[in-house]
Amino acid sequence: MSTLNNKKIILAVTGGIAVYKSAILLRLLIKQGAEVRVVMTESAKEFVTPLTFQALSGNVVRSELFDQDAEAGMGHIELAQWADQIIIAPATANTIAKISYGMADNLLTTLCLATRAPLLIAPAMNQKMWHHPTTQKNIKKLSAQSSVFLCGPAQGEQACGDTGFGRMEEPQTILESCLDCWCEDNQQSVVLKGKTVLITAGPTIEDIDPVRYISNRSSGKMGYAIARAALDSGARVILVSGPVHIEVPQGVEIHQVRSAQKMHKKVFSLVEQADIFIATAAVADYRPITKNHEKIKKTNDRLNIEFVKNLDILSAVSSIENKPFCVGFAAETNQMKSYAIDKLKRKNLDMIVANQVGDDKGFEKDDNELSLYWFKENDLQEKILPFSSKKNLARQLIKEISFNFKDS
Ligand code: PMT
Repeated sequence: MSTLNNKKIILAVTGGIAVYKSAILLRLLIKQGAEVRVVMTESAKEFVTPLTFQALSGNVVRSELFDQDAEAGMGHIELAQWADQIIIAPATANTIAKISYGMADNLLTTLCLATRAPLLIAPAMNQKMWHHPTTQKNIKKLSAQSSVFLCGPAQGEQACGDTGFGRMEEPQTILESCLDCWCEDNQQSVVLKGKTVLITAGPTIEDIDPVRYISNRSSGKMGYAIARAALDSGARVILVSGPVHIEVPQGVEIHQVRSAQKMHKKVFSLVEQADIFIATAAVADYRPITKNHEKIKKTNDRLNIEFVKNLDILSAVSSIENKPFCVGFAAETNQMKSYAIDKLKRKNLDMIVANQVGDDKGFEKDDNELSLYWFKENDLQEKILPFSSKKNLARQLIKEISFNFKDS
């Protein structure tokens, strides 16, 4: 039986060309046994008539906040409380902006404010609108809330002729995200119960002298999101982190380090406790052979600094006896898949998570796209986690890891 069976869902539809896909989503939800009520904004009705959704859902479509007849049947506050989940698909930049500021100027935004049900948002807009700093700020604000989930947007050709991120995800993908939300509430809260997950995150800093260092652009966002997701899945979480500027999720045991050598030492003091090791840290591959104790003076036109290779923490962990389930990350600018698979084999890992970096991707961003590779009975397995918030990706990744960990 589907986890959506008998779930009460509000499908909130805003005005965008992707509205036609919402009719397909509605059918998919009903097929899963959900009871769906549709709410449309005035602009959504410019694209598709309410009759389409009424016929498909078997319920009258609501759009006005002060509709006396509808309010007599089920008031808007009652409707907000009736819902087990609200899905906004498509969600325009305008509606996203309004709900991120807690506005309640129409039925849809009022429901979002009055409900305690999880909110699944499937953005759909022009790619420039999606990338606009204001939209990104609004999305960031919303996805920081634990009851808000993001699905997409997808990349591709847009109705306006542009190409880029902003297309609404396909109805099947939105359905899967919806199922994921319930999976978390109902099952994932115990999926790693009793297990200890050790995670490395952030960059390392390799000092050259007391004022200069070499490092990289890792912000720790990916690693900290994974720590949060692992915690939500019931695990004990130990985080060994390079220097970052983000808050440590409450309940996570944190160990702050600076250099790759310190990270290596700390990980090895903790690894025996770990059932799962996830290496998201961007560890410096090299460090200066010597650290000057005094500031290097600019007396010469050229300065040569000699570097030595750091030990590979992940490879070292994966070669210990009784090793934990080892998950590595591969940050690649090119040939991502082949380099990632090479790391999977060479570092003797149980799973590798590849992501494209460079061109403003991967590092520092709030969202990403991940490709997972692992072997099952000598057959290479691949799973793509489409572009989404790192928070959302972390939850999906923890789910995949827990499935494979159980089988290992
Ligand atoms: O922190 P964010 O800004 O959110 O960015 C996220 C991220 C891009 C840093 C993250 O998604 C990511 O890809 N992390 C791994 C970066 C990396 O160092 O990749 P790599 O291909 O160089 O290393 C492969 C694996 O070996 C990684 O799991 C790494 O943690 C590990 N490694 C590498 C070198 C070393 N000395 N010790 C290690 O453990």
